[in-house]
Amino acid sequence: MSLYDWIRPLLFRLDPEQAHNLTLQMLGAAGEFPVIESVLRRSFWFDPRTTVRAFGLDFPNPLGLAAGYDKDGRAIRGLAGLGFGHLELGTVTPQPQSGNLRPRVFRLTQDRALINRMGFPNAGADNLLGQIQKHRPKGVILGVNIGKGVETSVADAAEDYLALLDTFYDEADYLAVNISSPNTPGLRELQERDRLEGLLSTLAARRRILVESGRGYVPILVKLAPDLSDAALDEACGAIGSSGMDGVIATNTTLSRHGLRDRKRIETGGLSGAPLRPLATEVIRTVHGLTDGKLPIVGAGGVFGPEDARAMFDAGASLVQVFTGLVYQGPWLPRRILEGLKPDGKD
Ligand SMILES: Cc1cc2nc3c(=O)[nH]c(=O)nc-3n(C[C@H](O)[C@H](O)[C@H](O)COP(=O)(O)O)c2cc1C
Repeated sequence: MSLYDWIRPLLFRLDPEQAHNLTLQMLGAAGEFPVIESVLRRSFWFDPRTTVRAFGLDFPNPLGLAAGYDKDGRAIRGLAGLGFGHLELGTVTPQPQSGNLRPRVFRLTQDRALINRMGFPNAGADNLLGQIQKHRPKGVILGVNIGKGVETSVADAAEDYLALLDTFYDEADYLAVNISSPNTPGLRELQERDRLEGLLSTLAARRRILVESGRGYVPILVKLAPDLSDAALDEACGAIGSSGMDGVIATNTTLSRHGLRDRKRIETGGLSGAPLRPLATEVIRTVHGLTDGKLPIVGAGGVFGPEDARAMFDAGASLVQVFTGLVYQGPWLPRRILEGLKPDGKD
């Protein structure tokens, strides 16, 4: 029995968002003590056999933290200490916003899943930028996931994404364009081919100017929903390819409620965790096929152990991310996954 088997029932007695905030607070505090941080870090090996080169970046290992876990960069060092090769911070919007009314996160324990309708609560771009500048950990790739503000219309969305690209260009190792959260009205419409092409080519044009001015090349990924039909995925991949984006994150949470048992399945929002896994893995396989394996894919959706990650790699992912798995399996999950992925690892 692990320590987390003792702690989890206590955490699960709290409201899920409260438990999450407490966890972040503890990780944030742990990261502030150099001794704890170095002990945490030392307990994770760095194995040259697990490094991954994707979209021009060298990742120390293939496992990352998915967006939404640390939206405001409150626990960057503590999370890096858990062994992640990359952390995707955000979703951040240009201005601070409070998100939807609480409660807005629900545990479906019977299904090992969560439903959330957070609606991008965050402290805004300037705050996250300051956190990254202050707490940047060594040897870990930092991505920033960007989204439009709730008050910004879909027609004006590009302005928000451009402002965020400008703000984070010099600090983020990569940017992730979030057009797939189900909790910001209209956001998913940006996945339609014409809109997507318009948005992404605007971002690509701005990046070209920044590169020409000597600011370096920052890869941009696009995060997709698992609820797109194959035809819609084909169109989205077309727009992503033609605009010169560097990769795809597959996937965000789903609106599907297929096969759930927990009574909380009636809650509105995006579903994550174990039931999302087959859907996300299938989207990875489809995107890999549609793009002839040329577009790097970051897998996310119900990764709870090394075997889930391996299935995503087999489907075509270069990297994988976790969120809900951390809630159910605890903070040693990254280590367990990475150990299981070692060429001689077992699980
Ligand atoms: C509470 C919660 C908040 C999330 N917030 C964001 C977010 O702000 N931006 C985003 O792109 N994805 C967000 N996600 C989606 C995750 O990044 C991930 O794509 C999804 O949960 C699937 O992975 P998982 O099954 O490992 O959780 C959120 C997920 C959860 C559970």
